[in-house]
Amino acid sequence: MSKHPFEIDPDIRLARTLPSRVYADPEMFRIQRERVFARTWQYAGHDDLVRVAGQVFPFTLLPGTLDEPLVLTRDGDDRLHCLSNVCTHRGTLVVEGAGHLQQLRCRYHGRRFALDGRFHSMPEFESTANFPSKADDLPHVSLAQLERFLMVALAPAMPFEDIATPLRTRLAGLRFADLVYDGASARDYLVEANWALYVDNYLEGFHIPYVHSSLATTLDYGAYTVELERYLVLQLGIAKPGERAFALPQGHRDAGRSIAAYYVWLFPTTMFNVYPWGVSVNVVTPLAVDRTRVSFLPFVWDQTARGEGAGSGLDRVEREDEAIVEAVQRGVRSRLYDRGRYSPAREGGVHHFHRLLAEFMHA
Ligand code: FES
Ligand SMILES: [Fe+2]
Repeated sequence: MSKHPFEIDPDIRLARTLPSRVYADPEMFRIQRERVFARTWQYAGHDDLVRVAGQVFPFTLLPGTLDEPLVLTRDGDDRLHCLSNVCTHRGTLVVEGAGHLQQLRCRYHGRRFALDGRFHSMPEFESTANFPSKADDLPHVSLAQLERFLMVALAPAMPFEDIATPLRTRLAGLRFADLVYDGASARDYLVEANWALYVDNYLEGFHIPYVHSSLATTLDYGAYTVELERYLVLQLGIAKPGERAFALPQGHRDAGRSIAAYYVWLFPTTMFNVYPWGVSVNVVTPLAVDRTRVSFLPFVWDQTARGEGAGSGLDRVEREDEAIVEAVQRGVRSRLYDRGRYSPAREGGVHHFHRLLAEFMHA
């Protein structure tokens, strides 16, 4: 239990926002490491990273908080795995670069593992008793796939299906199989602010007319909607007349609506922005209490639609968001500010996030 518990009233009309220390106090950030980040699903990459049998892709899960060395593998039976990338002998990293392998071999003393993590062999261990055992296999980490995207969790507090089911129904019929990763236009932004301030800002369209003059010309502010699910928030950007929107088939739940963008946020750090041109995945990586990396990863299914509507000019919109969120970070350090109130009309998504954060930090 946190030393400084706080509550978020479930009734948004009565509620007060997160106490400012949640965004500014290193102790709060430390608590979030195990209580929030280790127990939730995080974006790990896309399926092309491990497309064929024998492909391996090492990565660090949430550098700056979890710092967990992991490796994605596809074994000979075409099964995907996410394994600990730490050798079960004396703990060095096993896979040091992406590539194609028959087996995983630790270069320190030559221990070998199968691509599904099972211990295979080890020199000079003939007289070691009770060896090998289960503990000599590389531990498995929970791995789930949402369309083309891979999600992992160290100790998930919820099955991934609880998150994915509402999303799958809502986005059914979109051409995820056709998506091509455009690595050349992927970008990382360094934001001098707490990760949760970046998420707060993402979860409301309230600021669009004030902060994003260009975006405001394509989106219908009055029609912008927010839908809440247990672990996700879906925002619908509605196009102004004549602006680019999805051509949704008859029978689709949103058919007849002029949808410019689906903004999907998965608690706590993953955002899928679905536009007529494709999907911009935004991955929020908390580096320190007041420093966050935000990665924009574009996946394209219709290059011709890229320059139009709410899905265009993303770099400018990001810089506008960054500037305002960095100003909030300076503000939440103030002795004279602690908590605010919510607009029930416009800040339902922010309130929902704050309730989830309170729930996880105190559980
Ligand atoms: S640390 Fe891997 S074989 Fe020794
Ligand atoms: Fe914004």
